Amino acid sequence: MTGDDPALRAAYRLCRRRTKGQDPAEYALIQLVPAALRPALHALWAAANALDDLGDDRTAPAAERAARVEAWITALHRELPTGSSPDPVRHALVDTANRWRLDLTELRDAMAQVQDDTRGRHFADWAEWRAWGRDNLLPWFGQVRTVFDRAGVPVALRLDTREAYEEFLDGVRLTDILTDLSADLAQGDLLLPAEALDLHSGAAADLARRRWSPAVGALVTHLTGLARQWVAQEALTRGMHPGPATVLDTMAALLHAQLDAVDAAGPALLRSPPRPALRTRARILAPARARAALAWRLTPLTVPPPQHPGAHRPPAPAPPAPADTFLRPPPHPSGERPPGIPPGDLPAHVAVIMDGNGRWARQRGLPRHEGHRAGADAVREVVHGALDIGLRHLTLYTFSTENWNRDPEEVDAILGLLRRELAENPFRDLDVRLRWHGRAGRLPPDLVDVLHLRERTTRARTGLTVTMCIDYGGRDELTRTAAALAGRARAGRLEPGLITEGDFARHLPLADLPDVDLLWRTGGEQRVSNFLPWHTAYAELHFTPGLWPDTDRRDLWQAITAYTGRQRHHGATPADGPSAVPCPTAPAGGPGG
Ligand code: IPE
Ligand code: IPE
Ligand code: MG
Repeated sequence: MTGDDPALRAAYRLCRRRTKGQDPAEYALIQLVPAALRPALHALWAAANALDDLGDDRTAPAAERAARVEAWITALHRELPTGSSPDPVRHALVDTANRWRLDLTELRDAMAQVQDDTRGRHFADWAEWRAWGRDNLLPWFGQVRTVFDRAGVPVALRLDTREAYEEFLDGVRLTDILTDLSADLAQGDLLLPAEALDLHSGAAADLARRRWSPAVGALVTHLTGLARQWVAQEALTRGMHPGPATVLDTMAALLHAQLDAVDAAGPALLRSPPRPALRTRARILAPARARAALAWRLTPLTVPPPQHPGAHRPPAPAPPAPADTFLRPPPHPSGERPPGIPPGDLPAHVAVIMDGNGRWARQRGLPRHEGHRAGADAVREVVHGALDIGLRHLTLYTFSTENWNRDPEEVDAILGLLRRELAENPFRDLDVRLRWHGRAGRLPPDLVDVLHLRERTTRARTGLTVTMCIDYGGRDELTRTAAALAGRARAGRLEPGLITEGDFARHLPLADLPDVDLLWRTGGEQRVSNFLPWHTAYAELHFTPGLWPDTDRRDLWQAITAYTGRQRHHGATPADGPSAVPCPTAPAGGPGG
């Protein structure tokens, strides 16, 4: 598969040897996929590890290690368009990226994290630990999934399995940390959250001195128990192609065996990494190989031919723009400026039902898709207005679960338009974080890909969060939340009789989306059409007759101004006088004045 380029062949061979030598379990898992896919997976694995090794090499001081990691990443960016590198691991990686059309910008945060890690890590709680682990692992697994997608075996994760997937990866990370405890301690690292260490008093101090004690034993048992729970995710492979499903199931079985070895090691855990017995591994792998062979036999794979360097150029991973280099949005052509509303009085979250595209087109004798195209211009305009006025959250109803009932031609036009808008990336230079809310299963995979890409590459931005609701339905959202709660209850992690509103909110697909303060619908209809039922429970409603494509940022400002004049009570007794309770300061559930 490397054509007749001997340097490239040698580069891939080296990646394969490194995987085999450094992580035999990983190597065995890669052997479960068809041979044509393996070089790409070896290249990705070797690259992730080469970077980790640079960051971890304690023979050099931290600043030196950070500089080496940075140099490695910079060289990769430079070499990507050339398709070649003097470093064999990067050579295989850039070839893999070009051949499989991988977008390595998605790895930017994970790579930058290796650089940060050279300064040492401390985690107060599991939430911090989890965020760190996911930032690092998810993007690499994302690349592997893209290779499968491109080969014609999509491993698109349904949103309802996303949580299971992320928790599974937490289990992978925790198992790794427990296995490598001796090596990390030798370097003075302890990659566990204080929250867990504090439960076993004295354990942290004993570990720092590399001394086994009952507290350390109890801590290890506690952690292997957690990791076992996290890697046992039945829902994860449900409905998945049997090929990748076999890989994931086998991975879970190997992790279980590894955790057994950690438990069995006792004090030896602090001296060297425990490994399961060879026959244990063989008992897992032999049937897995048979299953995998069967699973792939019926799947024709599309394997891209060798590429001439530069024939495909994935977007070069530009370094992230520091916060102060974001551009301001262009001003409104009229020169009008937003009303000066103090930030504390602004709604925290405005949600918009952008209605009227079809009627706008009909009024002009145009096909409906022209209305949607004009609607996309209005979206840009309103996002600019939201930035101008300092709004934090803008959520846009873009395509509903009911909109599939439209003429397929119109559906195609809307989804195609979305794809083009996202590819063009009009908010690239603005402080806009893009998020997507909706179901994954029915949307075209390339649209899902670009949505994930935009989410990933903008997630560090702190200005305006624009949430696009695409294949979104409120009832679907609530149903999936109920399913997630039921799953937790069945796993014994939640007591059904004690479920609170807070538990429900935490299990929503976008658990951190704030309540909607202002719900605005254009186009004259006065209904909510299955939009954000949970979040709009106490929203102020604003209906305007104008059609969405005729909307500009001044309409948003007008809607927000109207909102500031409303009085909100949240069920409490209204205070005296018309302006006694300015709308935004009414506390949820508290008396309004
Ligand atoms: C809203 O405009 C856009 C989408 C639902 C995608 P419509 O297409 O519903 O426009 P009208 O309501 O038919 O005018
Ligand atoms: C709501 O508009 C959905 C979006 C704006 C994406 P619709 O036009 O689809 O809603 P109904 O059919 O009028 O309720
Ligand atoms: Mg409509």
